[in-house]
Amino acid sequence: MTEQMTRIALARRPDGMPVPEDFSRETAPLPRPAEGEVLVATEYLSLDPYMRGRMQDVKSYAPSVDIGGTMTGQGVGRVLASKAEGFAKGDRVTGMTGWASHAVLPAGELRKLDADVSPTSALGVLGMPGFTAWTGLKKYGRPEAGQTLVVGAATGPVGSMVGQLAKLAGMRTVAVAGGAEKCALARDTFGFDATVDHRAHDDAEGLRAALAEAAPDGVDIYWENVGGKLLEAVMPLMNTHGRIPLCGTIAWYGGFEDVADRLPGFMRSMLVKRLQLTGLIIFDHWDAFPQFLEEVTPKVKAGEIAFLEDIAEGLETAPQTFISMLQGGNRGKQIVKI
Ligand SMILES: NC(=O)c1ccc[n+]([C@@H]2O[C@H](COP(=O)([O-])OP(=O)(O)OC[C@H]3O[C@@H](n4cnc5c(N)ncnc54)[C@H](OP(=O)(O)O)[C@@H]3O)[C@@H](O)[C@H]2O)c1
Repeated sequence: MTEQMTRIALARRPDGMPVPEDFSRETAPLPRPAEGEVLVATEYLSLDPYMRGRMQDVKSYAPSVDIGGTMTGQGVGRVLASKAEGFAKGDRVTGMTGWASHAVLPAGELRKLDADVSPTSALGVLGMPGFTAWTGLKKYGRPEAGQTLVVGAATGPVGSMVGQLAKLAGMRTVAVAGGAEKCALARDTFGFDATVDHRAHDDAEGLRAALAEAAPDGVDIYWENVGGKLLEAVMPLMNTHGRIPLCGTIAWYGGFEDVADRLPGFMRSMLVKRLQLTGLIIFDHWDAFPQFLEEVTPKVKAGEIAFLEDIAEGLETAPQTFISMLQGGNRGKQIVKI
């Protein structure tokens, strides 16, 4: 009998928040690598908010997943067979395996992992999310000691890295997170100076009052992961010459509520306070990845930078785990063990 692989495909395009029926589980014969390619058995799959965008058929910075196509995603795995120089059976590698038990990838799209760091860290703290935080904060946030940073989704891999790097740079750090447990995590595990539970406030006004207490000197960097009522709450608290690295707007990934009437107010704040809002797509910055690893890996190994991983079991759980993560069900970097 031919050996089989399993993959999770996009069954249809979601309307708003994805549901399990938007995905299907498929099996196929195990693919074989051609010259220059490597067959990888996936051990861990990364689930990331950007995948919601790939399920939509809209023009963006990266192509969407076709109906019936394998959901896109980064994995960590072991080389099962190699027809490429530099890769041998048993090597641990990372690359865009997709939501699949196995993948054949060109050698140039794989990176070998060091044996002395945990394999899952390549998907979070020492991977794309950690790198996004490091790059965006340095380039667009420009931390200054004594100033204040606010970040939403603060216990996730991006937010927690942003908060810790800002703290190391001497900033006051304010975490916005969903629920008391995540706020405690933000304080106790990631060292934020103050926390605000966005779920405790139904509207932007209530959230703003809580933020004003947590950031009594105003906000100099608002790291934008979220959009929605958090953005609305923060804008009036921004200090002159404030910076807003625009990394994500997860509150709007399922669609926009009517925000048009708030746009003039945002534009006025941007103007009178000379704010700098900069769109950040990590694809533009991969050249700096080796520098990131060189600088941050020792800090992670020394325990100066903490990280948290939430590992679900089994490829078949990926759709439900992904849906839950989009709604705050994860505690730290969401990973699936295959
Ligand atoms: N631009 C880039 O290149 C790039 C790269 C990586 C990531 N990103 C973006 O960075 C952000 C964080 O990514 P991540 O991987 O670190 O995700 P994450 O924090 O692990 O997971 C997403 C979190 O978003 C929060 N959330 C969901 N809906 C929300 C809402 N309506 N209001 C407030 N918070 C909400 C939830 O946290 P709570 O339970 O705490 O609310 C949830 O746990 C995302 O927007 C992502 O798209 C962008």
